[in-house]
Amino acid sequence: MVPGQVPQPAFYIFKCEQSSPPGMPKPSCVNPQTQDLFQYLAQSLMQKGIIGTVQPIRTSCMNRCNMGPVMLVEPGHVMYTGLTKEKIDRIIAEHIVGGNVVSEYVIPAQMWGEPITPADMAKQMGR
Ligand code: FES
Repeated sequence: MVPGQVPQPAFYIFKCEQSSPPGMPKPSCVNPQTQDLFQYLAQSLMQKGIIGTVQPIRTSCMNRCNMGPVMLVEPGHVMYTGLTKEKIDRIIAEHIVGGNVVSEYVIPAQMWGEPITPADMAKQMGR
């Protein structure tokens, strides 16, 4: 690290904070049972003293609503699904601190295929 420089975060954690309006049949990541997960995540990072290098971010729908609550860890495009406080504890300990993805909580590959580059997408669209 260069002295005097503010280091960039090592990780960004994008937590879906979308909630459906009451009565809406579509599932969403935030409901009365799951509404405190973002706060739990942020507080856990704070308590461990790593909030400066792990940036939690509230985001809107990431189009995997059926598998919610979800959060995306970058770098790595690692999408975690079906979150609970216990899962968040393990993800912080094993992935964020320990460097090992918690594969049993990762979204199934058929729901999270390889990314398509914008250049390839443009080609597919004939542009
Ligand atoms: S509501 Fe969270 S992914 Fe859609």
